[in-house]
Amino acid sequence: MEDEIDRIFYRAKQGKILFANHGALSPEYIPEKLPFRDQQTTVIAEVLAPVLHGSRPSNLLLYGKTGTGKTAVTRYVLSKLLSGGESKVVVAYVNTRLANTEYRTLAEFAQAVGVRVPFTGLSTGEVTSRIFKEIQLRGNLVILVLDEIDYLVKTFGDEVLYEFTRSNERLLPGLLSLVGISNDLKFKEGLDPRVLSSLSEEEMVFPPYTVEELKEILGERAQTAFKPGVASQAAINLCAAMAGSEHGDARRAIDLLRIAGEVAEREGLKEIDDMCIKKASDKMEHDRVEEAIRSLPVQTKAVLLATSKFKEGTNTGELYLAYTTLCRRTGIEVLTQRRVSGILAELDLLGLIEASVVSKGRRGRTKRIQLLIGEQILGKIMSEDTALAAAA
Ligand SMILES: Nc1ncnc2c1ncn2[C@@H]1O[C@H](COP(=O)(O)OP(=O)(O)OP(=O)(O)O)[C@@H](O)[C@H]1O
Ligand SMILES: [Mg+2]
Repeated sequence: MEDEIDRIFYRAKQGKILFANHGALSPEYIPEKLPFRDQQTTVIAEVLAPVLHGSRPSNLLLYGKTGTGKTAVTRYVLSKLLSGGESKVVVAYVNTRLANTEYRTLAEFAQAVGVRVPFTGLSTGEVTSRIFKEIQLRGNLVILVLDEIDYLVKTFGDEVLYEFTRSNERLLPGLLSLVGISNDLKFKEGLDPRVLSSLSEEEMVFPPYTVEELKEILGERAQTAFKPGVASQAAINLCAAMAGSEHGDARRAIDLLRIAGEVAEREGLKEIDDMCIKKASDKMEHDRVEEAIRSLPVQTKAVLLATSKFKEGTNTGELYLAYTTLCRRTGIEVLTQRRVSGILAELDLLGLIEASVVSKGRRGRTKRIQLLIGEQILGKIMSEDTALAAAA
């Protein structure tokens, strides 16, 4: 055991040599340059620029798939905008998914415009009106960025947005412009048409990066993040190719390179090789599956857990029996066989189980159901779920 500890510490010490600036590969890092985003940077700057001479910028909706630079580019432009020191200009940036509730979203907005609100207790209407009063009083020119705005709309509806888009007369001599950011285009369908037309006065799309673009982005990051010689061009190319295989997602590419670096560090290597990248990719896939399972509704988890009781696969009848037993043991509601079939179809789509139709000759057809993920991951996640822990 002692040998093992010595070995871990020795490797860690060696490994420290690999990273020059680990933070440059962290999610919070804002790079100084954002290659391949000149057009988006310019458009956002042009739309927001009128605020500098006291006019209201058009509202702006930014969208594109995950990891295409929406947040990074927006924050970059905002930091430039503020660097001029225009005292009336206020930027409020809120990530609505991280804020989590409508109230917290408003509270963060309030804080940015200098209004103190308690943690709870006020109605959203009251918070909104305090914010508006303050903006009017100070004559502030406010740009409110709602990142991951789809979360807000999906979870709480669009009433707050409606208030914001209608507010302009009430705010004079102040003003409010909105920048909405989303990686889910469908959220537009759920918006009141008046909110939508107002929010999307201007729109800008962020296309996925090509593999060639990812290579260059990674190359720049690697130079800051690693000591010379640690991340070879071959390693960078492989990370870019693997991350770009679904859509050109810069976050995935950067994460892959960071984790590959950590693997190399742990293994006491001097540079990142293909094996490190493969291991990093497996780890990310593993984490992704874990996260997907963790966020499933409890009934879906129960069906998944029932499936895991059959090492060799099972059929619908047998599975339903196991599921009902499990429900009774844990005290959760028993759904009908029809509903459970629906859940199985969802799990199949998610790639967590495989449900294939098999013929039983003259006795008709049945479904063969097989778990596709490791039982260990499943056991671990289920034991964290208070409703199901007893059955895991
Ligand atoms: N052009 C670029 N150059 C350098 N780094 C970039 C570039 N575009 C994105 N990145 C980096 O990639 C990561 C993901 O970018 P960002 O967070 O802006 O994505 P996003 O479009 O907001 O994704 P999501 O929709 O998931 O929020 C960040 O670490 C960011 O710094
Ligand atoms: Mg983002």
